[in-house]
Amino acid sequence: MAYQVTLQPSGHQFSVQPGQTVLEAALHAGYALPYGCRNGACGACKGKVLSGRVDYGATQEGALSAAEREQGYALFCSARPLTDLVLEVHEVTAVQEIPVKTLPCRVERLERLCHDVMGIWLKLPSSERLQFLPGQYIDFLLKDGRRRSLSLANAPEEDALLELHMRYVPGGFFSEHVFNVMKVKDILRIRGPLGSFYLRESDKPAVFVAGGTGFAPIKAILTHAFNQGLKRELVLYWGARAVRDLYMPQLPERWAREHANFRFVPVIQSPLPEESWSGRTGHVHEAVLADYSDLSGVQAYVCGAPAMVAAARRDFVARGLPADEFYSDSFEFQGGPGT
Ligand code: FES
Repeated sequence: MAYQVTLQPSGHQFSVQPGQTVLEAALHAGYALPYGCRNGACGACKGKVLSGRVDYGATQEGALSAAEREQGYALFCSARPLTDLVLEVHEVTAVQEIPVKTLPCRVERLERLCHDVMGIWLKLPSSERLQFLPGQYIDFLLKDGRRRSLSLANAPEEDALLELHMRYVPGGFFSEHVFNVMKVKDILRIRGPLGSFYLRESDKPAVFVAGGTGFAPIKAILTHAFNQGLKRELVLYWGARAVRDLYMPQLPERWAREHANFRFVPVIQSPLPEESWSGRTGHVHEAVLADYSDLSGVQAYVCGAPAMVAAARRDFVARGLPADEFYSDSFEFQGGPGT
């Protein structure tokens, strides 16, 4: 049977059909709840159950701890109602205005950005434009019904071509296709824009944390911010496994030269023996912790693998970041149907 859900503080109401998660039903009803991985791994969709009961579904401990469950929290991408519900959740309002479209597109350009990252540029039919907020992503709709999500790396105002960055994952079905089969002029179908990872209005400094190709949506956000002449303080921590994995460092280096309000901190997890590296090393989110003794006055925008996003959320909030000032987008790097 269908259950009724009421969101607080907005009072928005919608029904959840049997088999649907709370998030699926909310999105169908036109209410943009925040989300990232949609598989219980990142914690972006977390909210509080004020009344009623849910089946929590499959969740990872890093995204929803036992203590948080005790306090009434659930991950709405996984939770299914067992009764009518009243939920406390932060709703995204700006993306509600943007239509989600299914569109054909043509591969216009393919370029290796480093040894294992491919840049893909797509052209839409001349009568179409994809309206989106910088930071959002699109789904590729594949012939067998599978989908593959990739973030848009271009700013919306520079949308003659859609730019995407994809890291090669050996054996990943879409990776193998992009790196070994895809060619210029191929026709694909996409659906978007999707996601709630975009820059919120604020005077607070914005701390961006990218892991690998998590740089793509942040590139879109920062390009847009610079195009707009945004004056708030912006800092990017970009983490990579080795120096050779940091695939376009000259771009944020240039931004840092051109914009006094922007700082770039590359962080290499473990440089290869043949690489000379005198910069920061270790885990990227720990570099933020080393630099900020108190995060209570900033907004954090984090994009990368679910484990990094979950660790950043936990440690940044423990360092004083208000939980509702943590914005994230996460994706699987290895294995799984999405690669
Ligand atoms: S845990 Fe729900 S969207 Fe990632």
